[in-house]
Order: sequence, then C-alpha cells, then structure tokens
Amino acid sequence: MIFEQFSAGGCQSYLVGCAESCAAALIDPEISLVDRYLAVAARDGLRIRYLIDTHTHADHLSATQQLSRQLDVPVAMHRASPAPFVTLRIDDGEMLAVGKLRLQVLYTPGHTRDSLCLRVEDRVFTGDTLLIGATGRTDLPSGDPNALFDSLFERLSQLDPALKVHPAHEYKGRGHSTIGQEFAENPRLQVRDRSAFVEMMRNLNLKMPTHITEALRTNMSGGKTVAQMLAEAAATVPFMSLAQLQSRVANAAQELLILDVRERDAYEAGHIPGARLLPRGQLELRVNQELPDPTCRIVAYCEFGRISTLATATLRSMGFQRAVALDGGMQAWREASYPVRSGADP
Ligand SMILES: [Fe+2]
Repeated sequence: MIFEQFSAGGCQSYLVGCAESCAAALIDPEISLVDRYLAVAARDGLRIRYLIDTHTHADHLSATQQLSRQLDVPVAMHRASPAPFVTLRIDDGEMLAVGKLRLQVLYTPGHTRDSLCLRVEDRVFTGDTLLIGATGRTDLPSGDPNALFDSLFERLSQLDPALKVHPAHEYKGRGHSTIGQEFAENPRLQVRDRSAFVEMMRNLNLKMPTHITEALRTNMSGGKTVAQMLAEAAATVPFMSLAQLQSRVANAAQELLILDVRERDAYEAGHIPGARLLPRGQLELRVNQELPDPTCRIVAYCEFGRISTLATATLRSMGFQRAVALDGGMQAWREASYPVRSGADP
C-alpha cells in the first residue's frame, strides 16, 4: 500500500494507493492542498479513483467537489450526507475497491450524522469520530453524544487493537496512534458510562470553528467559497499596479476611465483624483447610461481590491474588453501617500 499523509492547519488528509494497480483514494482533501495532492499522486505514480469525505466538515473547506470535477471521479460519502454533489453514497459494511485494496466502511455517527470510518489493511481512518487523545465534538449540526458513545464503544472498540488510527484532525504533529493505545489512554474513552460520557460531551464548551458558516454552506451545498469566487474572477481579468495608475493620474491621462466601485460615502470621503463613482451594486443597472463606449479603457478600484476584481470581471463579461482591476485598493493607495481628493462625483 502506498500511503501519504497531508496536514493543513491541523486538518489531516490521506492518499492511499494500491502499488500494483496504481489506483488510489484521497480521504478528506482540503481545498488549499488541491495542487499538492495531484503533484504527490503523480510523483507516486498513482491515479486518484475516489474522493472520500469521512463526514460533513464544519471547520474546513472540502476539496472533493472541485477535484471530482477536475479528475472526473466520484465523491463518496455516507448516504446520510446532505451534499448534493456526492455521487457515490456508501453505507456500513460496504467496501470500495481501490485496485487490490479494500476500503471497508464503518458507519460511526455521533460527531455528525454522516460520519464514517474507513478501514484498510493495517489502519483505520477515523474521521472526527476518534482523534488521538480525544474524540470529535458533538455540539455542531447533527452531532449526537449518544450516537458517538455507541460508535466508540460498540464499533471502534471491537477493532483489532493493533490497527493504526489516522484521524481527520491532529494538532500536535503526532502521525498516528493505535486502537489499543486510544482505548487504554485516551481520556474520553475512559468514561465508559453512557450518561457520564454524554454529560462530558455536553459540557465541553468549545469555541465555534472560525469558518463554520462558510464551511457548512459550501460543504453541504456544493456552492462556492468567497475565495473561489474571487480566484475565478481574478483569473479572468488583468490588473494595473498602483504605481502605474499613479503615473497616469500625474500625467492626467485622458484615455483612462478610473472607476470607483465603492459606495458614495466612501467615495466622497476620499477618492483617486479624476475617478468616477459607480457603486458595484449599481453596475449592471447603470452601465448603459454611465459607460456608453464599450471600447473605453477602464481601471476599477475599491477599498481593498476584491470588490473591484469582481466588478471588472462583470464589466468584461458585459463586453468591456479593456477593463482592468487595480492591484490593491484605496487603502494601499492612501498608504503609498498618493494624492486623494474628497467631495462629490465631478
Ligand atoms: Fe469534523
């Protein structure tokens, strides 16, 4: 078996491959590592055949949907997963064949209703059901401490103690432990009375994960993250540097229309000399009156350079093929001590 472990801010993901057939499965991929997974699979001579999420992640952005589009391979999750982009719904006792490897599904709800563990050869990928020295929490959507108790003490406790445990999260850099070690030493697994266990899980008082809203929105729906929206827009527009725009402002370049896409109060408080105001929210509705010449050269800017990237992509899609976005925004412009005007639109 070919095995690679990846870590992104404590989130663990795994590539397991069959050395004989070169088929592989990628478990719990995280969106920032997409290129790295593909590079490592290529380096190891592996072809990824399955993308698997052990459960609906609430704390990071899953890359399964993006990779499934790129690689044209199925996304496998437990059948209780709410995600519409799951193409292979799996259940307890079933197996995925990855070349000669067999990934055996154990349904282990508790951390979430769709949590599963995957057993393959000498190891078990425990998702957030069992962590090294801890368990997944049960206070996020669809979590259930009673179900986690059953999953741990009726399912995982039955496994061979020598099996290596590979969790979906590990913050202290420990590569893995074993089932035997966890049942002997993991403090939460020493609480073997159901009501005491449930009581303990209900009183952990953990902070909510930082990106929970976006993670649940995108992982459950298959919708795009804000970073994806910006990256997609940025890939379709050229940029102009602050210094380039400053020299054009200094030379009073006539052929360049500087478009401020912020709101009126921000514009009036301070804008780039000569800029015209056309708030991003009004762009499509006012474009015909405000920008009658589709061949004009436009540079759009906002406060930080993100909204202007979206606005420029919109302008380009409407036919303004000479629209560019400022690489930076009003904040960087002020920090560079470039000239600022205040007051109403000229
Ligand atoms: Fe989780």
